Amino acid sequence: METKTEKIVLTGDRPTGKLHLGHYVGSIQNRIKLQDQYDQCFYMVADLQALTDNADNPEKVRTNVLEVALDNLALGLDPQKTTFFIQSQIPEIAELTVIFLNLVTLARLKRNPTVKDEMKQKGYGENVPVGFLAYPVSQAADILSCRSNLIPVGDDQLPVLEQVNEIVDKFNSNYGAVFSRVEPLLSQTPRLMGLDGKAKASKSLNNAIFFDDSDEVIKEKVMSMFTDTAHIHTSDPGKIVGNVVFNYLDTFDPDQLAVKKLKEEYQIGGLGDVVLKKRLIELLVNFIGPVRAKRRSLAQDPSVVISMLKEGTEKTRIITRETMKVVREAVKIKYF
Ligand code: TRP
Repeated sequence: METKTEKIVLTGDRPTGKLHLGHYVGSIQNRIKLQDQYDQCFYMVADLQALTDNADNPEKVRTNVLEVALDNLALGLDPQKTTFFIQSQIPEIAELTVIFLNLVTLARLKRNPTVKDEMKQKGYGENVPVGFLAYPVSQAADILSCRSNLIPVGDDQLPVLEQVNEIVDKFNSNYGAVFSRVEPLLSQTPRLMGLDGKAKASKSLNNAIFFDDSDEVIKEKVMSMFTDTAHIHTSDPGKIVGNVVFNYLDTFDPDQLAVKKLKEEYQIGGLGDVVLKKRLIELLVNFIGPVRAKRRSLAQDPSVVISMLKEGTEKTRIITRETMKVVREAVKIKYF
């Protein structure tokens, strides 16, 4: 609690859908920890970034601004400790993006592994929206407009932060030492798998558990989890690697010694999937139950959440305006 230093934390989500357990493990857990360790923490709803691949669907983005805020609040991100804001309401981010765009080449953006993967997934090819291709540049502006340098993210975001640091270096070398390099903070917990055994839980693959899932839905989802196709009878030896139930137990079971024993038993043979699944259902119901209740109670009056976002946005702008003053001086575009 007392180890506060000069680090400034910033994190955010694209409001393209409700968040799920994968997000919790990947970065939300870290956000919640960091807000007790650092004085300055920001949480940004990245609505403009969401629009880069949803230009034709503004309603979806708008709806999900509230949803992602609710998810984070329900999980314990505290507006008293973390300043919440909405990306599109900070004009300085847009200004800074325009300046940063000159410091990045098309070739470099196309080479960014995260952008490349996402482009492939969406089947864009050469018809990629320029805003989408350039989202690492606007992400640099999100982060640097608040002068943040500690960024809790999932591992898929590492190449983006690497590019942010290149922008920092280029800016400083062209215009003088204004920004400091950023440091990613990764989860210590391995990535959460999809219910179907895919490497990643995701909304678009429909293989994730959400924070407003009912106990019944959680139960169904866990019962449907992929385990080991060769583990047919209880007496058959079972595999741990690629087994979704064990991946979740590794993450959510506080009794890791018991998990270790269950793994041994499972590998020898004699332990059925249902026993494990029942154990996991209880753990997840106990974890998600209170989060879901808090989420529902907050959702009763969205105007309270909207006011909180407005207040945080105003607070953030005090800082971003200050940053832009320094930037305008440095770039020599201050005339009056
Ligand atoms: N790109 C992030 C994601 O897809 C969201 C994001 C936007 C973000 N701006 C950010 C994360 C700044 C950390 C810092 O999840």
